[in-house]
Amino acid sequence: MPYETILVEKRGPVGLVTLNRPKALNALNAQLIAELDAALTALDADGEVAAVVLTGSEKAFAAGADIKEMMEKDFSEAFTSDFIAPWARIAGHKKPIIAAVAGYALGGGCELAMMCDIILAADNAKFGQPEINLGTIPGAGGTQRLTRLVGKSKAMEMVLTGRMMDAEEAQRSNLVARVVPVADLVDEAVKLGQSIATKSQPIVQIAKEAVNVAYETTLAEGIRFERRSFYATFATADRREGMVAFSEKRSPDFTHR
Ligand code: CAA
Repeated sequence: MPYETILVEKRGPVGLVTLNRPKALNALNAQLIAELDAALTALDADGEVAAVVLTGSEKAFAAGADIKEMMEKDFSEAFTSDFIAPWARIAGHKKPIIAAVAGYALGGGCELAMMCDIILAADNAKFGQPEINLGTIPGAGGTQRLTRLVGKSKAMEMVLTGRMMDAEEAQRSNLVARVVPVADLVDEAVKLGQSIATKSQPIVQIAKEAVNVAYETTLAEGIRFERRSFYATFATADRREGMVAFSEKRSPDFTHR
C-alpha cells in the first residue's frame, strides 16, 4: 500500500520513516497515525531491519494532533470513537525506534517522540505540551511520560503554561539523549541505529522490553522481570558467542539466534 502521509526507506539495516505533511507541519491526523503504525508493523516483520529512525522536517517533527480534525468533536463522539487509542500502538513495536527531532515537537508531536525509545534532538528542536492554550490537556501520554522523564515540577510548568523547551534544556532535563547540529540529525540517528544493528537482534529486543518495563511497574516486579529476561538470554546462541568471543579476545559474530 503506498503511503500518503509518510515516506519509508531503508538505510542498510535501519528503517527510516519520515513524517510528510509539510503544509500542516506534520500535524498528526488519523490517516498518518494509521500509516505510521502499518509502516512500523512492516518494519518489525522485516528481517533486514534492526532499528527504526522516525523523523519529520527541519521545521517540524510534528506540531501536534491535527487540531482541524479534532475541532468539531463533542465529548460523546470523542469518548465512543476513542480516537486517540490507535496512537498507543506506536509504543508497542518490538524494534528500537529512535526519534530524530528537529523543529517543533508539540502536543502529540512531543508525545509521539516520547513513545519512541531514544530521542535525538537537533539544535533547533523545541518541545512543548501547548494543549492548555487550546482549552484541553495532552491526550496521548504527555501528562504521564513527560512527568516520568523530566519530573513533576517541570512537567507541571510545561503542561500548565504551554511553555516550550529548547534542545539544550531538553537534554539537561533528560528528555533527550543527545543534541546534534540540525544538518547532521538524520545521519547521526541512522548511525545510532546502525550501531544497534551490530548487536544480537533478539537480545536488543529483550533489552528494550526490559527497560520499558521500568515505566510500567514497581521496582521489585521490574527487577524480577529483568532477572528472568537476563537468564532467558542464556538460551540463545548469541549470549554464548558474546562471552566466548570476549574470552578469546575477538569480536563476536552474532547469528541472531
Ligand atoms: N493541527 C492542524 N494544523 C496545524 C497544526 C496542528 N496541530 N499545527 C500547525 N498547523 C498548520 C497551520 O494551521 C497552518 O496551516 P495553514 O497554512 O493552512 O493555515 C500550517 O500548519 C503552518 O502553521 P503556522 O502558520 O501556524 O506556522 P508558524 O510557523 O506560524 O507556527 C507553530 C508554528 C508554533 C507550531 C504553530 O503552528 C502552532 O502553534 N501549532 C499548534 C501547536 C499545538 O497546539 N499543538 C497541540 C495540538 S493538540 C494535541 O496534540 C492533543 C494531544 O495531546 C493528542
